[in-house]
Amino acid sequence: MMGRLGKVISLGAGLPHPDCFPVKSVSFDYLSPESNFESTDKIEVPDNEALYEALQYTSGRGTSYFDKYCRHHIEIHQKPKYNDWDIVVTAGATQSLEAVLRLLCNPNEDTILAEEFTYPAFLECCNPMRLKVFGVKVDQHGVCPKDLDQLLTNWSGEHKKPKLIYTMPVGQNPLGITMTLERRSEFYKVCQKHDLIIVEDDPYYHLQLDSKQKLPSLLTFDTDGRVIRFDSFSKIMTPGARCSIVTANQTFITKLVVHNEVGIHSSAAPSQLILHELLKTWNDEGFDKWVEHLCDHYLKRRGILDDAFNKYLDKSLCSWNLPDSGMFLWIEIDQSAYPKPANVEEHQWPAQLEDMIFNESVSNGVLLAKGHWFMVDQNLQKVGFRATYAFAEENELVAASQKFGQALKSVHEKLSAK
Ligand SMILES: Cc1ncc(COP(=O)(O)O)c(C=O)c1O
Repeated sequence: MMGRLGKVISLGAGLPHPDCFPVKSVSFDYLSPESNFESTDKIEVPDNEALYEALQYTSGRGTSYFDKYCRHHIEIHQKPKYNDWDIVVTAGATQSLEAVLRLLCNPNEDTILAEEFTYPAFLECCNPMRLKVFGVKVDQHGVCPKDLDQLLTNWSGEHKKPKLIYTMPVGQNPLGITMTLERRSEFYKVCQKHDLIIVEDDPYYHLQLDSKQKLPSLLTFDTDGRVIRFDSFSKIMTPGARCSIVTANQTFITKLVVHNEVGIHSSAAPSQLILHELLKTWNDEGFDKWVEHLCDHYLKRRGILDDAFNKYLDKSLCSWNLPDSGMFLWIEIDQSAYPKPANVEEHQWPAQLEDMIFNESVSNGVLLAKGHWFMVDQNLQKVGFRATYAFAEENELVAASQKFGQALKSVHEKLSAK
């Protein structure tokens, strides 16, 4: 093995000797852009410097080569507005989120904001830190900046004024909404006015299905270094790799590197090696082609699910959006179509109705994610479900829609008969 410490003989560092690594090469088959991702070629990584770095303890920043690739990736895709931005390779957006909250928030003291329906793992990260989370209104264009401004301008009461907002600007999970360009600009200005740090979690950035021209990251508006952006390889390459990038100002990144060193140490370096070898072999054109390939794949599936919904879901009972990005579609249940039993309290009815539809769907053999799993405020008087066209087989998308449509109808019939 190469990659020892050169002229200095180290008796200091507690590194295992490379002879003790049982892996001596790595090879894998990958889908090739030349074949339109229909057949495979092979990559072989012999016993070289890159393999040594992947098998040895690695810097908290990530391996030297993946760090370099990720800087390039951010530079060409996200184009931060200021020059001295920095990155750290992390073990997924979820781990990054936890790290950022620990870095910036005081447990049991701080208040943070999120879209009124949000990624449940974000709420799970906030819980053990006992952070108070408030929801911000969103419409079909993303976070409503005027509501955000009003909320912060009129802030009073027992909770501290928020210092941070968590947002998913593309293919929002669970609502499937994408923040428009105008909104991004207005949103950034309101955050500036109230000195909010913005956590931009953007795993669906490359899955902007309908547009050739991708909407720019909030980093492109960021003149103050207040945006902390997460790019994840989970949805565009493979979630098992546990590789993501945090981009932010140098002060935050330096702290996050230290946080890595005392926590995960680094994102798994063999994953970085595999991703790097693949991305290097594909090169930028191959990556772009892969993204197009993924978008075509999801567009087709989105179409199948939407057609099936049009066929099987009764529009007097619900409505849904056709997301232009990401993997999720939001089904809003029309509560007025479902008679409330007299013995149920008004404020408890949305959650109960959602449960009834959920249970009926599961008995029918289909599972959708309940709206209440994503609600910041559990008392929000809304009923909805998140569906995804990402995972089920194409024929299953149709069968699932039929089963869900039946569940909506039979709950309606049961309640109407009472
Ligand atoms: C908004 C959002 N952030 C993060 C993740 C997870 O990303 P990672 O695998 O990089 O932790 C998901 C996946 O569902 C997500 O929807």
